[in-house]
Order: sequence, then C-alpha cells, then structure tokens
Amino acid sequence: MSISMQDKVVLVTGGARGIGAAMAAAFAAAGAKVMVTDVLKDVGLATVEMIRKAGGQADFVEHDVRDEAAWEAAVAATVRNFGTLTTVVNNAGIEISAPIAELPIEVLDRLMSVNVRGLALGMKHGMRAMRPGGAAGKGGSILNLSSLAQLSASPGTGAYAATKAAVDRLTKVGAVEGGKFGWNIRVNCLYPGLIQTEMLEGLLGQQVSSGFFQNDEQVAEYVVDHTPLGRLGTVEDIANAALFLCSDLASFVTGVGLSVDGGIALT
Ligand SMILES: NC(=O)c1ccc[n+]([C@@H]2O[C@H](COP(=O)([O-])OP(=O)(O)OC[C@H]3O[C@@H](n4cnc5c(N)ncnc54)[C@H](O)[C@@H]3O)[C@@H](O)[C@H]2O)c1
Repeated sequence: MSISMQDKVVLVTGGARGIGAAMAAAFAAAGAKVMVTDVLKDVGLATVEMIRKAGGQADFVEHDVRDEAAWEAAVAATVRNFGTLTTVVNNAGIEISAPIAELPIEVLDRLMSVNVRGLALGMKHGMRAMRPGGAAGKGGSILNLSSLAQLSASPGTGAYAATKAAVDRLTKVGAVEGGKFGWNIRVNCLYPGLIQTEMLEGLLGQQVSSGFFQNDEQVAEYVVDHTPLGRLGTVEDIANAALFLCSDLASFVTGVGLSVDGGIALT
C-alpha cells in the first residue's frame, strides 16, 4: 500500500539538502504541498525546482529557525500559498563535536540555539497555527528530528547529544499537550542513526581530528561493524519513516521516538 499525503500541507525546516530535502521530496511525491525552508536560499530553490520537475508542489521561504519573527512569516507564507498547514517537520539542525573538557562554551550556545531554540519555536508556531482558532485550525502533526546520539554515548558528542535529548523531551511533552488540550495535534520524533549527508561527513572529520579514529574510513567501518543491518543509513530510509509518521496511517501514534538506525542503538 502506498502512503497518501494528498490533503497535507507540510513545512520542512532545513529542507534545502540532506534528510530535509529527501523528506520534502517524499512528501511531495505522495501528494503533499510542501514549503521548504532553510537559510541556504540557492540550495533550497534548487530542491524546490527538483520537486516541481518530478511533478510535485513545493515552494521555498528563506528562514532561520532561531528567529521567532521569521517563524511567524514562514507559517503565514505557507497558509497563504497552500491554504492551510497540517504538518511541521522540525529538521534543521547542526552538529559540532568536542570532548566535554575541551568544549568551547560558544559551541554549546550555537547548538542549543539551532537545535533547541529553533525547534521549540517551530513547535510553538506550528501548534498555534494548527490548533482550533489558529490560521490553519484543524489539528495536524509535528515531527522532530532527534538522534541516535540521545540514546548512546560516543566521545565528543556530549553537547550535540544534550540538544537531541532536549528534542526528545519537547516531543513527549508536546504530544501530551497536543492531545490533552483538545487540539488533535500529534507530536513524534525520529532517532536517525548515521545517515549519509554533509552533516555526517563533518562528524566523521571531527571524530578523526579529535583523535578518536585515524581516518574517515575507520569511523565508517566501526559504525557499520556495530550496525546489525551492516550499512550506513540513507536519506530515503529516514524519509520513508517520516512519511509514515506524518501520514494518516499514524493517526493514533503520538509521543513516539522511532529509531531508524539499522539496529545500532541495540549494540
Ligand atoms: N546525518 C545524520 O547522520 C543524522 C543523524 C541523526 C540526526 N540527524 C539530524 O537530522 C537533521 C538533518 O540532518 P542532515 O544530516 O540532513 O544535515 P545537513 O547539514 O545535511 O542539513 C541540515 C540543514 O539544516 C539547515 N540549517 C542549519 N541551521 C539552520 C538554521 N539556523 N535555520 C534554518 N536552517 C538551518 C542547513 O542549511 C541544512 O540545509 C538534523 O536535525 C540532524 O541533527 C542527522
């Protein structure tokens, strides 16, 4: 059975590239209208062009998730262009590794501001638009990108993992509020494993420069060896899980954190 997103209007942050772009493309291919938002304007516009060429409906808004006024504008543009808002995917995120004893505190502040402040603003303005009386007003769902990092403990990932643990807690509390307040807003999150994107390339490089591994290949080999399914993840692996959680097939699923990691969290 294929998944339909025919009646959905989705705002995807950090949708210009990587996992965000793959989710935007998957939602559009399933019939959703997709607002791609990102700080990378040219890359975002190219992603929208790619979706349109494949027959999908998409648009782009330049949007820094740390900026509350930009959130209000992005939500308003989505409702104006596509008539409503049913789904917010808080995907924008950054990763910077450093052992805790060497952690420049500005790095923690940067991680917190994108991964926690930006995501919390997305939940806030998504909920305000989708709850009864809001600009869209018919309920919907929110999907947050947490990480395997919040389930495991690898050297150098402390600050990033802390932000992704915060995402997990925001998801769980958001799920209770989105239901208990009578808004019919589902809130779930994903724990991706190691997925081949520019972020992963950066992470591998930082693991090597911190001295935990000798080269990128050694890190990748270590990860694959510890992954029961024996490979790194692809952006499509994440997009497929996102499609399910944002579709009506998941209409009774809220407060869930779904690992999409080939089983690595178990080992
Ligand atoms: N790649 C992985 O292995 C992996 C694993 C677990 C979780 N994740 C999470 O998945 C999400 C996507 O990761 P990815 O691998 O595609 O990363 P990526 O770096 O390839 O893409 C992230 C996107 O977010 C955008 N972005 C960054 N800061 C922003 C801001 N302030 N406002 C708006 N957009 C901003 C970037 O421009 C980029 O387009 C992130 O939240 C990441 O933490 C990734």
